[in-house]
Amino acid sequence: MKGVPSWGLILGVTVGVVIGVLLALGTLLCIRLRKKHDRLRISSSRRASTVPMRANAVDACSVLSDSSMDPESPKQPDPKADSPALWTEGTKQKNLVSVSGIPKYSYRDLQKATRNFNTLIGQGAFGPVYKAQMPTGETVAVKVLSTNSKQGEKEFQMEVLLLARLHHRNLVNLVGYCAEKNQHMLIYVYMTNGSLASHLYNEKHKVLSWDLRVNIALDVARGLEYLHDGAVPPVVHRDIKSGNILLDDSMRARVADFGLSREEIVSRQASNVRGTFGYLDPEYVSSRSFTKKSDVYSFGVLLFELIAARNPQQGLMEYVELAAINAGGRDGWEEIADPRLDGVFDTAEVNDVAALAYKCINRLSKKRPSMRDVVQALSQILKTRHRKHHTRKSAADEESLSSVSEHHREESIGSLSDLPDV
Ligand SMILES: Nc1ncnc2c1ncn2[C@@H]1O[C@H](COP(=O)(O)OP(=O)(O)O)[C@@H](O)[C@H]1O
Ligand SMILES: [Mg+2]
Repeated sequence: MKGVPSWGLILGVTVGVVIGVLLALGTLLCIRLRKKHDRLRISSSRRASTVPMRANAVDACSVLSDSSMDPESPKQPDPKADSPALWTEGTKQKNLVSVSGIPKYSYRDLQKATRNFNTLIGQGAFGPVYKAQMPTGETVAVKVLSTNSKQGEKEFQMEVLLLARLHHRNLVNLVGYCAEKNQHMLIYVYMTNGSLASHLYNEKHKVLSWDLRVNIALDVARGLEYLHDGAVPPVVHRDIKSGNILLDDSMRARVADFGLSREEIVSRQASNVRGTFGYLDPEYVSSRSFTKKSDVYSFGVLLFELIAARNPQQGLMEYVELAAINAGGRDGWEEIADPRLDGVFDTAEVNDVAALAYKCINRLSKKRPSMRDVVQALSQILKTRHRKHHTRKSAADEESLSSVSEHHREESIGSLSDLPDV
């Protein structure tokens, strides 16, 4: 029997090997299936969290009349947006980072950054505004919202999330917030040149040139067009006025306080009619329904304010209506131009801007243009300006060239005349 393997042993080894191979194959299959499942799960959660961002961005690009060329607008989806669409608190990190990458600051952080709220830069309808120096070195504006609001923490965060998704080169971007113990604060990029109102009415600023005023008008129109037609869901500003137009260090205008006029974010007692007196759409006052066209009305008032540098709360519109009788809605608007401009403006441009403004303040909202139409009209005015400038420049170049050759000709005649008579 020795040397001859027993049948039992052979059978045992074979069965062992077969079982081993089967087990190995099974494990391999399990690992593969698991990996595939994981990949599917990751890609679907990624899709779920980025789709709203992308939908917003694509819409913004496709509908805007000309601001889609802006590299900043709308912002590309944030890589951090791959995180779940919930506010999640990091265990180590003190600040809360949302889907949109907007950090949440603690009350103490902001207390420190504003030197115990000692850096007041203004007092608005929503509450005080402070200048603050963040630990990163960035200067920001902290807007403290008066908190008689019944809104809870979660709702406030949802509102902030909506605001944080709005990005455009002509909007004052939100860069952070604080929601703590009934304290609601919004943190914005600091605008070094202050409000348009201060430039129009404060003698300490040098006069805004006419050319700059038209550029500012187009900036504001683009910001509003983005809110109306680029943002998903669309945002109606409800408080367009020169105090809410802020100027950055290169004098580019940005619209501030968008999305803040809603009941949910700040509650004001007996807030029947909201907005600012002098800029209010008369149709809204009678119907109580605020639409995009109500913003167009306020924008029209703002255009007249840029032309005349008169405050709408101090009879700007009466002044405009009187001028309209003479101007017939088209010409002669230069009569109401800001005296500080000292007549330094292109009369045709003033008339074109005023005619556009007059359309915006039509009593019937459906007769007012859309913000997209307004952007196109203002862009056209600026294109005409550049064309005129170019023609004038080439005419001047030609003139100087011809005067050089004239001079040259005279010189050669002179040199000829110097020759001795033969
Ligand atoms: N991001 C900012 N950068 C610089 N100044 C700001 C900023 N936000 C607001 N301000 C200033 O703070 C003041 C109050 O602002 P706000 O609360 O918006 O009031 P309102 O819009 O009613 O004037 C304004 O005069 C404005 O110039
Ligand atoms: Mg404001």
